[in-house]
Amino acid sequence: KKLGLLFGGKSAEHEVSLQSAKNVMEAIDPSKYDVVLIGIDKSGKWHLNDASHFLLNAEDPKLIALNKTNKGIAVVPGETENQLVNREGMEALGQLDVIFPILHGTLGEDGSIQGMLRMANIPFVGSNVLGSAISMDKDIAKRLLREAGLTVANSYTYTWASKNSISFDEITQQLNLPLFIKPANQGSSVGVSKVQTQEEFEKGVASAFNYDHKILIEEAIQGREIECSILGNENPIASIPGEIVATADFYSYEAKYIDESGAALEIPAQLSEDVTKQIQEVAIKAFKALNCDGMARVDVFLTKDNEIVINEINTIPGFTKISMYPKLWELSGIPYSQLIDKLINLALE
Ligand code: DAL
Ligand code: MG
Repeated sequence: KKLGLLFGGKSAEHEVSLQSAKNVMEAIDPSKYDVVLIGIDKSGKWHLNDASHFLLNAEDPKLIALNKTNKGIAVVPGETENQLVNREGMEALGQLDVIFPILHGTLGEDGSIQGMLRMANIPFVGSNVLGSAISMDKDIAKRLLREAGLTVANSYTYTWASKNSISFDEITQQLNLPLFIKPANQGSSVGVSKVQTQEEFEKGVASAFNYDHKILIEEAIQGREIECSILGNENPIASIPGEIVATADFYSYEAKYIDESGAALEIPAQLSEDVTKQIQEVAIKAFKALNCDGMARVDVFLTKDNEIVINEINTIPGFTKISMYPKLWELSGIPYSQLIDKLINLALE
């Protein structure tokens, strides 16, 4: 089978995607799949096979500095050049049996590329247009999770137009301090701040608006950070959960990829059988509520009273060396290359 691996992308998580792609590439069984590499550079141009290697080899694998010049806002008005798909890229797509998009964030995980692949009638790994779009948007995702009877953190949504509709004092009266400020559509904690004061709040709001026109002001949930991997389409299964033990102020981009002493992974998470089962059930319920397919990693908080609060769902979870998604499957009895195989078969179902 001809398998296309799409990576990089015009997103603030470009560098993370490159690390994910390297790992996935290594795990693919070459006797089963004929791999076509499709690297998308930061400007959105597509590069095929050997021509894409400069992307994969460009970065020091240990240091994924945040790409500050690329805000990852989806569409730049007035952009005339069609950078997303050049002719070479389109021709390559036409010859593929299946695509594994390992693109995180804007344009890659938010339903954009999924829509394009669907129109081109090429099966692909992971969620379809709807599931991708709603899971990427933390504001919309939370509404749907709440409606499904699941618990999420209380929050306010600001758009650029509505950002003065409620004051800092009113927000802190409702949500207390500290607060988390997040762009609605981002991953890897890009643009996220944890704030204690009005001054920090204003800075955090400005910083989040750098990455999206919609942001969330969220209460801080006191609890352990637990992650659970999901695999499947109609009848998804949940992995054994893992835990993030952050020693940094929170599980920031820095703590994830740059100074890894800021967080440790506890795999498996030390949980009772009962709580493990509850987390798995919640994770599957969330996966279904958000119309996901194939794979996702569900991130939750577990409070002192064993309440499970969903933080978010990632439809193209990280596959980097430190990433939970494949590690949790490995622990749950599905080794890396078998996992890739299963994901591809789910795309072809
Ligand atoms: N957004 C990053 C890649 C993750 O969820 O792992
Ligand atoms: Mg995320």
